[in-house]
Amino acid sequence: MEKVKVLVLHGPNLNLLGEREPQIYGTTTLDEINASLNALADELGIELRIVQSNHEGVLIDAIHDARHWADAILINPGAFTHYSIALRDALAAVGLPVIEVHLSNIHSREEFRRHSVIAPIAVGQICGFGVDSYLLGLRAAVNLAKRRKK
Ligand code: DQA
Repeated sequence: MEKVKVLVLHGPNLNLLGEREPQIYGTTTLDEINASLNALADELGIELRIVQSNHEGVLIDAIHDARHWADAILINPGAFTHYSIALRDALAAVGLPVIEVHLSNIHSREEFRRHSVIAPIAVGQICGFGVDSYLLGLRAAVNLAKRRKK
């Protein structure tokens, strides 16, 4: 079977992980999260491409491009989770399985974080487990992609 390929997207402000509100997001940096994702990708024998952007349009372009090569999209949309219909529409348009992840438990925080406009078009959402949200999400993405390839 051809190698499974996954696009990992990190939304706005996630480049500041490590120094940003560590009481909520912990002290792990984005580079460390990406290193853990790459290590798991090696273990699972899959290919990853990772993009972080603070700009909605850059994320949307990466999603459009993914339709030419990716089997699944793992995304932490950051604050775009709560209001970006454009991001949701892009994800819905490409038709790839989407797994939404968050470091924090968005359902136990402020009211405005409890609603995700992405969740209805995602296969599922994993939140509240810090770096493990991403690692669990990657495993889920790979299993979904493998099932679709069969
Ligand atoms: C976040 C939760 C969002 O509400 C917030 O805007 C973020 C990070 C998380 O990973 O917990 O930027 O997506």
